[in-house]
Amino acid sequence: MTENLSPIDTAKYVAAKRAGEMVEDGMKVGLGTGSTAAWLVKCLGQRVRQEGLRITGVPTSTRTAELARDVGIKVVTLEDARWLDLTIDGADEFDADLTLIKGGGGAHLQEKIVATASDRMVVITDNSKRVAKLGAFPLPLEVIPFGWQATKALVEEMLVSLGAPSHETRLRMNADRPFVTDEGNHILDLHLGEIDNPRRLSMVLNQIPGVVENGLFIDICDAVVVGYSDGSVEVIDPTAQAPAPGDADPAATADGGDDNIFRDPQA
Ligand code: 5RP
Repeated sequence: MTENLSPIDTAKYVAAKRAGEMVEDGMKVGLGTGSTAAWLVKCLGQRVRQEGLRITGVPTSTRTAELARDVGIKVVTLEDARWLDLTIDGADEFDADLTLIKGGGGAHLQEKIVATASDRMVVITDNSKRVAKLGAFPLPLEVIPFGWQATKALVEEMLVSLGAPSHETRLRMNADRPFVTDEGNHILDLHLGEIDNPRRLSMVLNQIPGVVENGLFIDICDAVVVGYSDGSVEVIDPTAQAPAPGDADPAATADGGDDNIFRDPQA
């Protein structure tokens, strides 16, 4: 499976293999989409065949479903699985907060649903996806085909009103036709250069009629496994350093700080 790998494939493979070792017997596992996630599916297939590992996989695309079946993983839908122990997926960019841009493969809608229906999401990647600021990779936006031009115009208007320093919105193509996702939608790729406030951008984008979901994953990813071309692996897992129960968290306030959207600010 791993003869004559290029440096980049070596990096993806070792990240996938390490994350695959986090999967335990009996788990329900979300299976991501993309070239790194494909290595994960192959590694898990090998464990199923060689170790008798029993897992149930929920794929995030038809491509991944096909591969998972081919390598011997039992595949069910999210409707059947309901809740997952772990999702492992690739990413197009990740920052120090483990905020991600995903959707380069056009599957971020299902990927986000599956990841948020999981106890834990682990991202597997090579080091080229690590960024100080998100946005060099165009942000994918899944939109319904009906009136997509109107949606595109609203998105562009919104980017201007948010003061985006530069932006270009392109309909993703597949040869000479618009790209169609597994859900039958199109994708607008937002070329932004830099994203100053991912949380605000994500909320505003998802309020535009016609937008189904954007590719920003915020507070979803729990850990990142970074593979390197020399075969080494780095695991970034802030949850592993979480304060022990009872330890004071200086960021927390007794009443939950400013996060409570139901609190009347005048009260
Ligand atoms: C698909 C994704 C992929 O995870 C992302 O594009 C990374 O892919 P690759 O591992 O091939 O670089 O979000 O929608």
